[in-house]
Amino acid sequence: MTRIAVPAQRTPGATEALAESEALAVPGTARTRPPRDIAVVDLRSDTVTRPDAEMRAAMASAEVGDDILDGDPTMRALEDRAAELLGVEAALWLPSGSMANHVALTIQLRPGDRFLAPRLAHVLEYELGAAAWLAGGMPAALPWSAGPGRITATSLRRTPSPGPMAYDALRDRLLCLENTHNAAGGTVTPPGEHRAVVAAAKAAGLSVHLDGARIWNAAVAARTSPAELTRGVDSVQACLSKGLGAPMGSVLGGSAGFVREARRVRKMLGGAVRQGGVVAAAGLIALNRVQDLEADHVKARLLARGLRDQGWNVNVPETNVVLAEVADADRTVAELRGAGVLAAALAGCVRMVTHRDVTEKDVRGVVARAGRLAAAGWDTRTGEWRSEGTAAETGALRVGWRTRRVPRPAGSPADASEPPLRRAR
Ligand SMILES: Cc1ncc(COP(=O)(O)O)c(C=O)c1O
Repeated sequence: MTRIAVPAQRTPGATEALAESEALAVPGTARTRPPRDIAVVDLRSDTVTRPDAEMRAAMASAEVGDDILDGDPTMRALEDRAAELLGVEAALWLPSGSMANHVALTIQLRPGDRFLAPRLAHVLEYELGAAAWLAGGMPAALPWSAGPGRITATSLRRTPSPGPMAYDALRDRLLCLENTHNAAGGTVTPPGEHRAVVAAAKAAGLSVHLDGARIWNAAVAARTSPAELTRGVDSVQACLSKGLGAPMGSVLGGSAGFVREARRVRKMLGGAVRQGGVVAAAGLIALNRVQDLEADHVKARLLARGLRDQGWNVNVPETNVVLAEVADADRTVAELRGAGVLAAALAGCVRMVTHRDVTEKDVRGVVARAGRLAAAGWDTRTGEWRSEGTAAETGALRVGWRTRRVPRPAGSPADASEPPLRRAR
């Protein structure tokens, strides 16, 4: 029997996280390397979660088949379980949430159609226009009239008929919802509101696709089942690779006929795999962990409260996303990186996402580091360092794990022993 080593679960160490963060480097943007002498806390996304020992063991021992030829039993079990949880007739595994959205929109749109989605939805902003390229659909952003990330039913009134000569008008065909809404700060559309919006979409002659990358978080936060949040939709995609911790994969659900067609389009895009049971085994374990997300939401509220106490302008997280309004998002991300905290700049804000690979202690550590940055003179509201006052007089401040030098007023004697300033440029 072949033995497969199952590596122990590791929390990303400083060196590993450093390598990841370097991979995110964008030429020309301000950034500071994280220090090597403290543990880095990675809050860039819940996608950084790694499969733990239980998941890796399940992957190693998964029963597999050829999922393109005649089926993979573990894949089938995952798809059946996902369909049950999502309250749809059938489901299909895909390698990523983006591809699941592409497949859904390709089936539901034709060139000359328009699709509607709440402002800053993933399908509008973060999929490089694949909906237009693959599906031929023209996107239109809807305002957040019901609150961050949420639209009102009244914004979906049937568009007036263009008249017999207006053959050049786009056809409104599809509404693409997002729950939770990522860029709005992980906001939840509750079941009643979801049903009202879907009913209005149907009355306006629209099909509905739900990008439920984090529908699990939405269900946990709304104290309901994922199936309640998919009522009436024609298709839904849900990610396994975010807070649930699987290394990859999403499921796309809908009617049996829709999923049959989705299987064809997945193949067309090169997204069908052979012994997929290896990753489906991780997905099955992920689906047993939906309730664990509550702990991530608690950590997000702890983080937001702590940052607010430090003077940050942050949201009240409904799920696991903390969004901070700052003067300069790239610069703030760089300063945090210098303090060993990895965050992401998103839509002009700083986003920090809590997940299963960070602990409450890590979160308290992040708040403490933000506090030390503030004590050293970093003002997140202005995006600037304060160089006057005590800091400039003493020339150095203890930031906790290292000494940060602050600029001396012009003409003050230089200290040859001073290390160079370590600031984001
Ligand atoms: C709301 C939303 N939809 C879709 C996706 C795409 O998922 P993937 O990264 O697996 O392509 C993401 C990824 O972060 C997301 O946040």
